[in-house]
Amino acid sequence: MTDDSKSRVYIFDTTLRDGEQSPGATMTHAEKLEIAELLEDMGVDIIEAGFPIASEGDFRAVSEIAQRSKTAVICGLARAQLGDIDRCWEAVRQAPRPRIHTFIGTSPLHRAIPNLSMDEMADRIHQTVTHARNLCDNVQWSPMDATRTEWDYLCRVVEIAIKAGATTINIPDTVGYTAPRESADLIRRLIQTVPGADEVIFATHCHNDLGLATANTLAAVEGGARQVECTINGLGERAGNTALEEVVMALKVRGDIMPFATGVDTRKIMHISRRVSTVSGFPVQFNKAIVGKNAFAHESGIHQDGMLKNKETFEIMRPEDVGLAGTSLPLGKHSGRAALRAKLRDLGVEVGDNQLKDIFVRFKDLADRKKEVFDEDILALVTAAMTEGADHLEIVSLKVVCGTGGPAEAVLEMEVGGQEMSTTMEGDGPVDATFKAVRALYPNKARLQLYQVNAVTEGTDAQATVSVRLEEDGKIATGQSADTDTVYASAKAYVNALNRLHVRRSKTGTDTKEISYKDVS
Ligand code: KIV
Ligand code: ZN
Repeated sequence: MTDDSKSRVYIFDTTLRDGEQSPGATMTHAEKLEIAELLEDMGVDIIEAGFPIASEGDFRAVSEIAQRSKTAVICGLARAQLGDIDRCWEAVRQAPRPRIHTFIGTSPLHRAIPNLSMDEMADRIHQTVTHARNLCDNVQWSPMDATRTEWDYLCRVVEIAIKAGATTINIPDTVGYTAPRESADLIRRLIQTVPGADEVIFATHCHNDLGLATANTLAAVEGGARQVECTINGLGERAGNTALEEVVMALKVRGDIMPFATGVDTRKIMHISRRVSTVSGFPVQFNKAIVGKNAFAHESGIHQDGMLKNKETFEIMRPEDVGLAGTSLPLGKHSGRAALRAKLRDLGVEVGDNQLKDIFVRFKDLADRKKEVFDEDILALVTAAMTEGADHLEIVSLKVVCGTGGPAEAVLEMEVGGQEMSTTMEGDGPVDATFKAVRALYPNKARLQLYQVNAVTEGTDAQATVSVRLEEDGKIATGQSADTDTVYASAKAYVNALNRLHVRRSKTGTDTKEISYKDVS
């Protein structure tokens, strides 16, 4: 079946709103702009760029994404309050194709929060959707926790929203409670029952608390949903949202039984997945469908034998289809700048001349220490080049001595706000000693929430990627770094997270959420 003869399903990406809302996944302004550009370039139809009333930072990000957008619809989120909707409109209005997305919790539990009766809430929906529609001709409305809302009431409020001018009705499974058959039936029955339903697009928005988000989303499409809401890598609160890459690839690979087309260029998936992982600080689980490190790796003897005879034995999609280079030749210390640039292009990374210079210096340094430099190593270098520089804290040198029977000792030289300082600290192992040294030079109250080490490639000279998550006064920041020296990578990741906390501290209210999207009153 050709794509032209398939029904079109619109991809609505909410990585920058629902994904970024995930504790610890906060992105900087520049990172949000970069991800929005990658999403648009990949062919996402609608980008939910943020929640403008939540903070000055969110407002700025949504406005700038709106101004820079070319083809995608740019959407902002607003609670069912006139002030929220006005602020949202102010942020999205400069997009060539703006959308206001307004919502209210309609289930009994959510109705109790603003303490509205059913009738009062129905009036509020009519008033707020009408207001949004008077500002913008593209309005999405969501009854939050729809899957736990009484059927009759759900039909009633959906009808009110349609009559008030909503053009898209989104049915969220806010707490990941539904199951595939119910998900399909709910959309199908709403379309059959609610007057005016055939004049709007129905959307599905699933969370993954029971691991069913992708299945529920695909079922909703079978039930008639023509917009799917998702995030890259399934990023999102708790167990996350529906993963964009899973839905898009499922529709592509199983077009025989699900005849739906999307506008996504799937070869761009891997690159954006890696960038979202890096900027959010959320590593992708190794066995994650489509984008996990092992998703296309065939380790067992039987599998490898089958693969060598015929790739289709164990592979239902080609690595190239998701942007993984089929065979990758490692670079070595004799590779020049042109080879590095060609490799970066292959990996979907475009860099300017100055950035290339910086990455090349890092590459040469790594190639001196490591026999073969693999694609994953190069990507780790790119990440490092993009995340370091002009920071409050910079490691100048680190020497760690450890052995059996005694504490480890770390000798650290670090620039703090441009001033060089040094210290020697002992600790229970090399990482503990190093972190103590960082704290001695830069006293702080940040609590270590997560410390995770992964090898980027195989071998004892492999680079280690380290993720560190810190929490301070409710603010969370994640740092990542990679190096062949695990302790040095740990120190850089720790310092990277501290730098992010420093930025957030120095512009409180800019990228700190002041309002939760659940406070609808
Ligand atoms: O999960 C949810 O209900 C949401 C709404 C704001 C659409 O994210
Ligand atoms: Zn959600």
